This record gives sequence, C-alpha cells and structure tokens, in this order.
Amino acid sequence: MENKKNVWLDADPGIDDAAAFAVLIAYRDRLNICGISSVAGNQSSDRVTANALKLTEFLGAADIPVVRGAAGPLLREPADAGDVHGTSGLGNCVLPEPKKELAAENGLLYMRDVILALPKGEQITIMAIGPLTNIALLIKTFPEVKERIERIVLMGGAAVGGNVTPTAEFNIWEDPEAAKIVFDAGIPIVMCGLDVTHLCGLTREQVDGLLESGGRVQRALGEMLKFYFESPAYQNSDRVYIHDATTALYLVHPEIFGGHMRRVDVDCSEGMNRGMTVCDMRCYDDDGVSCVGNVLVLDQADPVVYQKLLLEAFASFDRDE
Ligand code: RIB
Ligand code: CA
Repeated sequence: MENKKNVWLDADPGIDDAAAFAVLIAYRDRLNICGISSVAGNQSSDRVTANALKLTEFLGAADIPVVRGAAGPLLREPADAGDVHGTSGLGNCVLPEPKKELAAENGLLYMRDVILALPKGEQITIMAIGPLTNIALLIKTFPEVKERIERIVLMGGAAVGGNVTPTAEFNIWEDPEAAKIVFDAGIPIVMCGLDVTHLCGLTREQVDGLLESGGRVQRALGEMLKFYFESPAYQNSDRVYIHDATTALYLVHPEIFGGHMRRVDVDCSEGMNRGMTVCDMRCYDDDGVSCVGNVLVLDQADPVVYQKLLLEAFASFDRDE
C-alpha cells in the first residue's frame, strides 16, 4: 500500500502497550513506524526500555529503531503500575533477551532528527501510550518539530472518571505537567481516554483462546492479558480493557470509533483532582466563546468489531508458523 502513514510510538511497555505494539506491527503495510521511544511509567525506565527492545524483536520488527526516553516525570516522583503490569512490566510473560541494541544514546535528539529528516511535505503522527514526558520535552526543546507533527494520538485522560484515582487516568496523573504542555501546544490531538477504552475489551474466553491457540505470539499476549485478570482491578471482571491497543486500533481503523471536539485542560494541582483532564462539554462559555477545541475526545466504539480486528491482528503473527 503506497503512502504509508509515518508514525512514532512513545510507550511504557506495559501489558497493553505490548498489545499495541502487536497491532501497529501487524499493520506495517499501512504504517511506516519510524521509531519507538520508551518512557518511564508502568515500570522503571530500565524495564520498559528492555521490554521495548524485546517486543520489537519478538514481533519480527527488530528493524524498528528503539531509543530510551525520560526516566521519570518532569517534576514529580515516579510511581509505577507494578500492581497491574507486574515487576517486569509484562506480567508473567518472559520474552527472549533481545540481540538488538538501542539506536542512539540520546532518545530525544534521535526523535528530533527522525522527524526533521522526513521528506519535504511529509508529517508524522505521534502515538503516545504512556506518560507524556517525552512528548513535552520534545516540543519544548525542539519547537521546530511541531510543524512536522500532523497529530498526537494519545492514550490518556477521561472526560468522566479515572482509574488511578476517581478523577484521573494513570498516564496523565503520572506526569500532569507534561500532559498540560502537550494539550496546550496547539497540535491536533486524538484523546483515546477511558471513555472509549472502557467500551472495548477481550473476554476471559477470548484470552484463554489466545493461550490455547498454539501460536507463539498469541500465547505470549494471552499470558500477559491473563495476568490482568489476576490483578485486583480485574479479578471480578468478565473482560479486560486493553487501553493502548484501542489507541493503536484507532490509528488503523478510525471508522469503528467516534467522538467530539473538545477543549481539554489538565489539573496540575496536588489535590484530589491531580491529573484530571477537564473536558469542556459545553457548546459556549460564559463569554459566548465556542468550547470546541483541538482535541477529538473519543467516546464511541463498536466493541464487537474491535474484538474481531484485535484478535485478527494477533493471529496474523502466527499464520505462517
Ligand atoms: O491508564 C492506562 C494507561 O496507563 C495505559 O497506557 C497503561 O499502559 C498505563 O500506561
Ligand atoms: Ca501504556
């Protein structure tokens, strides 16, 4: 397929990040994955960086450059999500040690160089599925990249509710200041927040099906997703939400999703609403100014087609084995 979409992936793998890696790599016929940067979040920088190297190699995409990004939030102390993703960050799944090494010593410089080296007239989509530390540092350190960024498709936030607190989603909560920089940067954003990721998921039976499939990749992803069911958040649930995979599927199948253009601000206080994404649901504010902003907040999805597409993407790795 001609005219592949340029994509940069910034992630904190992470079980659902791993599922997103699989979706993007399964769609390399449509995507030019220019590189992957790690960001501390679900686990430490060392662990998420090691996981990014392992995942690209395990998924047959060792050619995709991987670089290390920020080792923690801009201002706040890092707080990992080991209770959900396990000590390694990939649950109980042990992937082979990678042969490949990081593509550069400085991940931020590498991101800048790749973006500015795009052919004249081309732009890139940044897909951010961890805390937004790297993206904030990138656009603040090298503002000249902004005009080459077509949009930022991010997993984060929620118009209503939260997961790490009643009002905040983990990626935003972990680094609210970075999120505010990104939301205020004037770059078009697609926010795949909990409003849409909580509409999509795989059932226990479907995850068991991955484990029993006999396929190397499906089995590994099944092992990771099974770990979710054993975590406090999902013990009594009949399905697991795969937040980052939902974001990746939006990139390649936007037609199964829907949303609204909103103005979005981020609460950077120390209070109970730290990391809340305040989505303006009004049409006009008190001064009669439109509340339509530059953020497409997704809040609709087809959960059945989602499951079909996700399972097909996973199965594509084992089809010829
Ligand atoms: O709240 C879910 C998000 O936080 C996902 O990106 C997950 O991987 C964690 O980073
Ligand atoms: Ca993530």
